Amino acid sequence: MHATAVAHPNIALVKYWGKADESRNLPAVGSISITLDTLVTTTSVRFDPALGEDRFTLDGRPAPDQLERVRACLDLFRARLPGVPHAEVASVNSFPTAAGLASSASGFAALVVAVDRALEAGLDRAELAELARQCSGSAARSIFGGFVELRLRPDGSGCDTGQIRAAADWPLQVVVAITSAEAKAIGSTAGMLHTERTSPYYPAWLATSKTDLAAARQAVEDRDFAALAAVSEHSCLKMHAVAFAARPGLLYWNGATVECIRRLRELASAGVGVFFTVDAGPQVKAICLPEAGDRVADALAELPGVAKVLRCGLGEGARVVGV
Ligand code: PMV
Repeated sequence: MHATAVAHPNIALVKYWGKADESRNLPAVGSISITLDTLVTTTSVRFDPALGEDRFTLDGRPAPDQLERVRACLDLFRARLPGVPHAEVASVNSFPTAAGLASSASGFAALVVAVDRALEAGLDRAELAELARQCSGSAARSIFGGFVELRLRPDGSGCDTGQIRAAADWPLQVVVAITSAEAKAIGSTAGMLHTERTSPYYPAWLATSKTDLAAARQAVEDRDFAALAAVSEHSCLKMHAVAFAARPGLLYWNGATVECIRRLRELASAGVGVFFTVDAGPQVKAICLPEAGDRVADALAELPGVAKVLRCGLGEGARVVGV
């Protein structure tokens, strides 16, 4: 009753921000993402009737503040398979945790895949994505590789997540500028709920989501980089604008975040194939055409406030690596 799985973070190009139903962790909007390759979460799970409780370590240390969410994830399986014993879960990230690099996405995607194998539950990818989504909205997307869309079911019963284009079909590169390795002050769930309750822009955010999703889906289908850049930057800035307008306003950026965005805009105006996106943290992700990756990485690395630059390509979905 043990297994190890890996999963990669994903980066939303059309963002998820807001919940339609907090108790079911149902997103208020669909989203489109890319799954990365070189950043990895490796999660091992071992079920053992001799354990008196569920245990969780993150990067080798007990993580009591995360245990509740891990237990809730295990309980989703226990609700389907009665009699599942306590588990020991160990998760290791190859990148800074909780700093806007989607560690919860790769973490819960790896966890559901490892648990499914350890319990021999035999769930298909769509079912695994739905379980991951209940733990962390963005985690559903890390079940799949390449370009991924999470769609809301029109009847409100859940989401359908799946690949819209394989990684090898359009091998974009991603340069991540790490501007701070500190954990973010306000997690995405708290930030979303605060935005829904207090931002006057929230209705506009919801009303414009479908148009962005359609434009991004079409751009991915056509491999139209300029169109994908335009809708992705718009979705990112709109997500941050709706959060800025909350009371008090949410500001996930630091000074270096802004400097990176300005530099990437200069490069794009000079004809370099690059656009930016930023999640609920200060890191900047530059999405590049393959030939632009080196130039973009050099330009970001030399900016003051950029501590480190990470390079990724597009990767595969969550998978079992050991039993
Ligand atoms: O899945 P969560 O609860 O970590 O929320 C993710 C929110 C964003 O990263 C800001 C946007 C997204 O779609 O990934």
